Amino acid sequence: MLPITIKKLLAGGSELKDITVKGWIRTRRDSKACSFAELNDGSARENLQLVFSAENGEFSPVLPRLLTGAAVAVTGDLVAAPAGARQKWELRAKKAEIYGECDPEKYPIQKKKTSDEFLRTVAHLRPRTNKYASMLRVRSELAFAIHSYFRDNGFFYVHTPIITSSDCEGAGQMFSVSGLDFSDVAALPKTGKGDIDFSKDFFGKKTYLTVSGQLEGETLALALGKIYTFGPTFRAENSNTYRHCAEFWMIEPEMAFYELDDDMSLAEDFVKSITRHTLEHCAPDIELFAKFVDPALLETLKNVADNVYERLAYTDAVKILEPNNSKFEAKMAWGVDLASEHERFLTENYFKKPVLLYNKPCNAAAFYMKLNDDGRTVRGMDLLVPRIGELIGGSERENRLDALEKKMADFKINPENYQWYLDLRRFGSVPHSGFGLGFERMMMLVTGISNIRDVTAYPRVPGWAEF
Ligand code: 4AD
Ligand code: MG
Repeated sequence: MLPITIKKLLAGGSELKDITVKGWIRTRRDSKACSFAELNDGSARENLQLVFSAENGEFSPVLPRLLTGAAVAVTGDLVAAPAGARQKWELRAKKAEIYGECDPEKYPIQKKKTSDEFLRTVAHLRPRTNKYASMLRVRSELAFAIHSYFRDNGFFYVHTPIITSSDCEGAGQMFSVSGLDFSDVAALPKTGKGDIDFSKDFFGKKTYLTVSGQLEGETLALALGKIYTFGPTFRAENSNTYRHCAEFWMIEPEMAFYELDDDMSLAEDFVKSITRHTLEHCAPDIELFAKFVDPALLETLKNVADNVYERLAYTDAVKILEPNNSKFEAKMAWGVDLASEHERFLTENYFKKPVLLYNKPCNAAAFYMKLNDDGRTVRGMDLLVPRIGELIGGSERENRLDALEKKMADFKINPENYQWYLDLRRFGSVPHSGFGLGFERMMMLVTGISNIRDVTAYPRVPGWAEF
């Protein structure tokens, strides 16, 4: 028989007879008259209190086995809890069956506080802790919020390839994908020069895991108008930081006829909307984070949801940052790309609200960003938020064929591989823009969790691909 979820029970507000709940025991304590156990089934942050008393059933064989982590099915009556209890309802058990026992001596998830570092080594069990279960529920709701935002605003959800032969960011930080058998290096096909001959590989050329769906997304926006992708992306950058993963999920809207200002307005409205949605729909989980993870969380989320974001040209940002160089490890000067310390200074200390930083210098920009008339800045933008720094990166795209060809030459990109991308500028080119939101960074923002390794079930970072 399928159980009724604790979430449903607690929302119900009426007594119920002979219902069955199933889940995992969090704690048990015994008094003279009866035993109490806290049951959690993952459906909500809250546990259901189970009450076992001899007058309602014969529990002596099961009670000693109702230990932390054990999986059980319990049937009984849902009744109002005595006044002063933490919850309004409790389950007066009549029957209990153990599915799977759990030896508390060996169970890695103990009631006492365990460090985030330790829990990463038992990532298969950490979802059974309050914090990680809350994180996963918020993650699910946040993904849903993102899809509904775009659906409500006339965007089409498209799927761009995960295996690709192009390098969108031009940074060469790609993981190779190959069907060749590298366990026998001597048997690999070789060119006349002795290099590996990838024309004999599965796809007939070198291929990679995508770093971004943007280039393909642009082709779809220039047919459908407004699209977005929501998919996994991969970066082989050796950054061991609190905000970088080798595998992360990115949301990339792309819009025909949008210029940079429109792009920034969309980014602002989007982030505010999904932040509000999460606050509204995940209240108990967000409360947990505010209580145990980041005491300033609600304040930060209000700041992000309610403020008008500062729009700051890069050149003006340098004017603010340069006089503060003594505070920074990396010194700021015009032409230097912002490091996370600069980003956080602007959003946390200086403006104390989210900042849309735009018109970046060419040398800190990707090849596809539209060149401004000054010839030295591009129509790129980053959204900087407290605690994270860069949450979004986007731009108006270079839509002029000659300018794009010149840029690709500057970046030493072989145009032969990008004829399809250049075709967008040959046939019915229009101004268009888009951006990428890092899903895990958004998760860090809404949960207050300070390390990206803890906002995804199975993080992939340099030196770590367990599970
Ligand atoms: O700024 P990025 O590199 O921009 C792009 O990839 C563009 N093609 C997006 C577009 O215009 N369609 O990445 C976008 C966002 C960043 O702002 C950051 O939030 C996240 O993706 N991101 C990462 N998140 C986790 N780990 C990493 N290694 C990340 N690299 C980027
Ligand atoms: Mg960026």
